[in-house]
Amino acid sequence: MKTQNSKKAVLTLKDLYWDWAEKMMQPIPVLHQHAFETMKLAVKTAIAMGMSYDSKKVVNIGIAAFLHDLGKTTWPKELFVKTPILPHEWDIIRTHPLQSEKIIKEKWPDVPHDVLRLVRQHHERPGGRGYPYGIYEPSIDVLVLAACDVYTAMVAKRDYRTVKSFAPEVALAEVARFAPEQVVDALAKAAQIRRVEDQGHICSLVMNE
Ligand SMILES: [Fe+2]
Ligand SMILES: [Fe+2]
Repeated sequence: MKTQNSKKAVLTLKDLYWDWAEKMMQPIPVLHQHAFETMKLAVKTAIAMGMSYDSKKVVNIGIAAFLHDLGKTTWPKELFVKTPILPHEWDIIRTHPLQSEKIIKEKWPDVPHDVLRLVRQHHERPGGRGYPYGIYEPSIDVLVLAACDVYTAMVAKRDYRTVKSFAPEVALAEVARFAPEQVVDALAKAAQIRRVEDQGHICSLVMNE
C-alpha cells in the first residue's frame, strides 16, 4: 500500500537529464550508461535518506549525478579502458570534476550553484583523501553522490578490469570505507541489497569513475 505519496518528491527522469549532455555522452556508451545509472540510484538514495521533504535537494543530486562525469568527454578514448593508469594520465583523471564543471557552465549558464558544487566535489573524500581539492569534510549530499558513483561503477561490467563486475555487497562494503553509516544504509535500501561484514579493501580501482 502506498501511503506516502504526498510526501514524495514529484520527480520524473525528464526533470533530471539534459539533451545536450546526453548528446555529448552518447558516443561513449560506458559513460552514458554510468551517468544514467548513477542518476537513478542517487535520487533513490537521497529519498531513502529522508531528503524528499526538500525536493530541490533531490533534484540537484539527480541532475549532478547525470552530469558529474561530463569532463570525461574530453578524454582520449583509450583512457576509458586502460589499466594500469600512468602518472601523467592521473593528472587528466584528477581534473575531470573541474572539466565537468566548466562544460556545464558553458552549456547551462543558469545552473544552480549546488549542482556545480556537487559535480566539482564528487571525488572528495572525508579526511581530505579525495580530489581535486582534498576537502576535509565533504557535505552529506556530496557523499550521497560519491557513494552512488562508486557503487554504480563497481557493479557495472568493465571488460578491462580484472574483476569485470563486483557483487553488490562488495561494492557496498567499499562505499562504507568512506561514506557515513546513514548514507550506506540509504544506498543499501535504494539498491535493495543487504549489508555484510567487511569484504576487504578493494583498492582504488574506481578512483577514476
Ligand atoms: Fe562517475
Ligand atoms: Fe568522476
